[in-house]
Amino acid sequence: MGLEQHVRRKGFLKSKRSRIILATFVFIAILAVVIPPAVVVTLRKKNSMGPKSKVFVPLYVYPAPGTWDPLENAISTHPDVNFTVIINPGSGPGPNALPDGNYTREIPKLARYENVRLLGYVPTTYTKRNISLVRKDIETYAAWPTNSSNPDLAVRGIFFDETPQQYDAKALAYLQSLTSFVKKMPGLGPDNFVVHNPGVVPDSRYLASADSTVVFEATYDTFLERQGADLFRNIPDSNRSQLCAVIHSVPDNIEGPELRGLVKRVRRVADEIFITHLSTDYYSSFGNKWDQFVDLMAA
Ligand SMILES: *[C@@H]1O[C@H](CO)[C@@H](O)[C@H](O)[C@H]1NC(C)=O
Ligand SMILES: *[C@@H]1O[C@H](CO)[C@@H](O)[C@H](O)[C@H]1NC(C)=O
Ligand SMILES: *[C@@H]1O[C@H](CO)[C@@H](O)[C@H](O)[C@H]1NC(C)=O
Ligand SMILES: *[C@@H]1O[C@H](CO)[C@@H](O)[C@H](O)[C@H]1NC(C)=O
Ligand SMILES: *[C@@H]1O[C@H](CO)[C@@H](O)[C@H](O)[C@H]1NC(C)=O
Repeated sequence: MGLEQHVRRKGFLKSKRSRIILATFVFIAILAVVIPPAVVVTLRKKNSMGPKSKVFVPLYVYPAPGTWDPLENAISTHPDVNFTVIINPGSGPGPNALPDGNYTREIPKLARYENVRLLGYVPTTYTKRNISLVRKDIETYAAWPTNSSNPDLAVRGIFFDETPQQYDAKALAYLQSLTSFVKKMPGLGPDNFVVHNPGVVPDSRYLASADSTVVFEATYDTFLERQGADLFRNIPDSNRSQLCAVIHSVPDNIEGPELRGLVKRVRRVADEIFITHLSTDYYSSFGNKWDQFVDLMAA
């Protein structure tokens, strides 16, 4: 009886398995007919650009009427792309409680977009700058919304320029204390985001004290010389979510498929990216391939 039962069970399992296999075939056949080829193509196209990254914009452009329009157009026409934008009225917030009328008119326009995170520029001179002055700059940005009685005249964090590459315990303490300062400052919410700009891969002990670090800020040629994307792969204790790359002086013939290849390569390794073909004053205007770059970031 024990044996008979065993055999019968085996037979049952067997037929159940073949029913599952049959059902699977039928299911696949139905899918092949039902899913239009276009959907498959779209999915493949989307995947082929790899992970999405944010557009990172050092906006060192004076906001005379109209000059920020290329950025605002890109932001409003690409709601699926996030933009991190560095605001820099005067190598920092400037000497006054509020920046001039062109800034106070243009900044709130950008700040109102959900896909935008504005950051205030603050120099640190490789941590040699008087930290009281650095704190004062941070406080000035944080006070913008209250001082202007305009909640949209606001930044959501700080971009610390010229942070060190070589490890130094005092420098790390300096940066860590500034990060804590930003994190608890209500006027910089809700993100209270911190970016460091050593412009090269710094000692990895610095990475954890920022939300994002600019590990590359140089020309396209330098990017190629340093073996491009591989440069970012071997950064200890890091992952792409905390890395930012800025590549300027891209030759004009790098466009179309070649620009697509470049953007794809950098997207694989950095969560925030700026790529410009300008080779002088690269942050003070928008290059003629700005729209192509943003479209590739949206792909
Ligand atoms: C864009 O920002 C939104 C809101 O913060 C977030 O949910 C989304 O994951 C971001 N996308 C990318 C690609 O960073
Ligand atoms: C705004 O910019 C324009 C053009 O540069 C300039 O003429 C004007 O004086 C500026 N306005 C303020 C309030 O600074
Ligand atoms: C740093 O700046 C503060 C405030 O202006 C000043 O009191 C202090 O003496 C400065 N420290 C140094 C080392 O210059
Ligand atoms: C804005 O800042 C200026 C200069 O520090 C100050 O005189 C003024 O009272 C502030 N206004 C508000 C509303 O906080
Ligand atoms: C990537 O780094 C961020 C920031 O340090 C951290 O929060 C996150 O857990 C890391 N992710 C992975 C997969 O290691």
